[in-house]
Amino acid sequence: MRKYLLILLCFVQAGAWAAGGEREVIDFSASWKFHLGDVPEAKDPLFKDAGWRSLDVPHDWSIEGDFSKDHPATPGGGALPGGTGWYRKTFDVPAEDRGRLIYIDFDGVYHQSEVWINGHYLGKRPNGYISFRYELSKFLRFGEKNVLSVKVDNAKQPNSRWYSGSGIYRKVSLVKVDPVHVPQYGTFVTTPQVSAERAEVAVRTTVLNASAKRASVRLNTIVRDAGGVEVASIWQNQAILPGKTFQFNQRGGVTKPRMWSVGDPALYTAVSRVYIGKKLVDTYETTFGIRTFRFDADKGFSLNGVPMKIQGVCNHHDLGALGAAFNRRAAERQLEILKGMGCNGIRTSHNPPAPELLELCDRMGFIVMDEAFDMWKKQKNPFDYHQDWDQWHRRDLEDLVKRDRNHPSVFIWSVGNEIQEQWGDEAKGDTTGRVIARELVSIVRSLDTTRAITTANNEVNTYNNLLKSGAFDLIGYNYNHRLWANFHERWPGKKFIVTESTSALQTRGHYDLVPFDTIRRWPEAWDKPIKGGGNADFTVSAYDHVSAPWGSTHEESLKALHANAHVSGMYVWTGFDYLGEPTPYPWPARSSYFGIVDLAGFPKDVYWLYKSVWTNQPVLHLYPHWNWKVGDTVDVVAYYSQADEVELFLNGKSLGGKKKTADELHVKWRVPFAEGHLHAVSRKGGVEVLSEDVYTAGKPAKIELLADRSNLTADGRDLSFVTVRVLDEAGHVVPGADNLVRFHVSGAGVLNAVDNGSPTSHERFKADKRKAFNGMALAIIQSGKAAGEIRVEAVSEGLQGSEIVLTVK
Ligand code: GAL
Repeated sequence: MRKYLLILLCFVQAGAWAAGGEREVIDFSASWKFHLGDVPEAKDPLFKDAGWRSLDVPHDWSIEGDFSKDHPATPGGGALPGGTGWYRKTFDVPAEDRGRLIYIDFDGVYHQSEVWINGHYLGKRPNGYISFRYELSKFLRFGEKNVLSVKVDNAKQPNSRWYSGSGIYRKVSLVKVDPVHVPQYGTFVTTPQVSAERAEVAVRTTVLNASAKRASVRLNTIVRDAGGVEVASIWQNQAILPGKTFQFNQRGGVTKPRMWSVGDPALYTAVSRVYIGKKLVDTYETTFGIRTFRFDADKGFSLNGVPMKIQGVCNHHDLGALGAAFNRRAAERQLEILKGMGCNGIRTSHNPPAPELLELCDRMGFIVMDEAFDMWKKQKNPFDYHQDWDQWHRRDLEDLVKRDRNHPSVFIWSVGNEIQEQWGDEAKGDTTGRVIARELVSIVRSLDTTRAITTANNEVNTYNNLLKSGAFDLIGYNYNHRLWANFHERWPGKKFIVTESTSALQTRGHYDLVPFDTIRRWPEAWDKPIKGGGNADFTVSAYDHVSAPWGSTHEESLKALHANAHVSGMYVWTGFDYLGEPTPYPWPARSSYFGIVDLAGFPKDVYWLYKSVWTNQPVLHLYPHWNWKVGDTVDVVAYYSQADEVELFLNGKSLGGKKKTADELHVKWRVPFAEGHLHAVSRKGGVEVLSEDVYTAGKPAKIELLADRSNLTADGRDLSFVTVRVLDEAGHVVPGADNLVRFHVSGAGVLNAVDNGSPTSHERFKADKRKAFNGMALAIIQSGKAAGEIRVEAVSEGLQGSEIVLTVK
């Protein structure tokens, strides 16, 4: 809606011809009815849904349920319920809209969705991650009430290797246009020539004439810079016959372009104005960026002529306690946290992301690998997308590329992750890997030749059928960090990206007292259990010394990335913990241990390892906590940067200064435990840069609340993430504290969800209480639609409670 207002505003400012039938994009998220269970009659417009639950989408019903290993999703899928659900929305269409075309746009529905308008069947879309549209106009009752019914079927599981969520979990929009308009994904903006002096901007615009008359169309494309200043304007006339489309190819120039980069993600906008005679009938906006990039077989990646590494992470789509229900602020917070450690890349593993995530990556400066599929024809799970492959893969891939090809943040298309067709005996006639690889690459190339195409391979040998196709621009390795250095022995002359790395394992705040440099692979092999069984409480030490057997520690992969110029970059598995795939433990574990940041958004210690290597900010991070038993010997580790050494003191006594040697990315001391206080100082040229203290904490005494934002927007979806810390009398976090904290939220907002980052907790996310986990918990507060104050109170038996007030405007 905001966009529409903006468009109108621009129009009024231009003071041009009278508007009529201009595009209207209406946020269709509010006021749906929902029922969990299959109600086939609900497609009938006369069906009575008064007893159904009222809610706004995005919505994910799975995240509202209880964990059980017996749900069909299995713990691998997050151990939350699936099932079939129905949504209905009743809405008015004004009589004046007669003659306009009206579409419904779904950004994503998981999955097997079917849609009806006023009882008319519009279609089915099996893929739960793809965006899709239906035209409603033909079946609408103008000047009357209309009913949209949506069936979502996530009953047959497992259909995913991670948590999918269930429902209309992304944005829905109603789009009203003149019969002569720019259709869905109707523009493609490229910059065929770019120099510091001038960028050539090529805008390809499709205009559809869905009217019954020949239309004399005049297309005016205006390019605006980041400040909204018009920098180019191009006109072109074309008569379009009824029922036909025409593709306009326009070119304009931008002088001294401000280049899009990860540090300065400057955005331009192409505004397409469609006129018939003097009447403006449609306005369509496309955000784009001006940048050049190159993947080089020897020198790796460069952006705008400057060599750089892609320092990326893979993320699944869930937003922790919010589940799959997309929330812009929750995604923005994840990206802010990742930016904070110097991350500059996101891989949307292993599916098309929410369009809003890409908008955020455009604006915040991330290099995105946009991924289409986790499987092709051969299954990974009984009910997964392989069932829909034959009928849908072309359409889904085309729609993905058309939808996302204007995003400056998208640099790489990945058409598959660890695809089963990598293997297959060609001698026995199994050539599917090669054939499908070529087909997918040709689909992408037919729509976009400006980006690199790859696949993420766990089979890096030359008999990999996908790679044998020779179709890809970039060879993508998953893991295999010991083979990065001699990549060219296997793949002479090829360009190289690490599509996935690391898979190290950590529980935030838990440390095993085995020497830091004892590296453990858990489990022993992918099909074997953990040697020795692992920890009885299902924890994994948060020292950087445990990884999956196919992976490496954070430090191992970081070193291999930076030691090899030909490695364009890597995407670490994963930035954030995610629901499902509870490696290395089975149930009761139900979420991952791979994240650099836990499920609640609390960084694990390795966060500061990345920050010390990937940013220019001075870092000093000291760990672990200092609550041990006398007799324990503890490895004390520091990550530091912008300094030449760190000196450690225990209770005032120096334990010596240490410098990183050779290629080491940390320093450490073996320290016999004594209660008290660790103090570390980093120095450069003898001058103190930073200091850090860790105290032996006493008993839990009080609760502290820290809101990431205290001013929220009154839009009913803005969020404040409130961190809860359990402190001792002196104000130090109590490392193992697991006190149950109860929340009372009142006023201009609500408590959306709670979490604590534990991968084994079976407490509900939608609740008003949560146990602390290793001293911390999280409350996610959501604004209402009216201004006011939100009072957040946290209490716990035997502790001094705490209260904060947030403002909603
Ligand atoms: C990779 C896979 C990811 C995830 C990861 C866990 O092989 O591509 O989806 O399963 O392993 O380590």
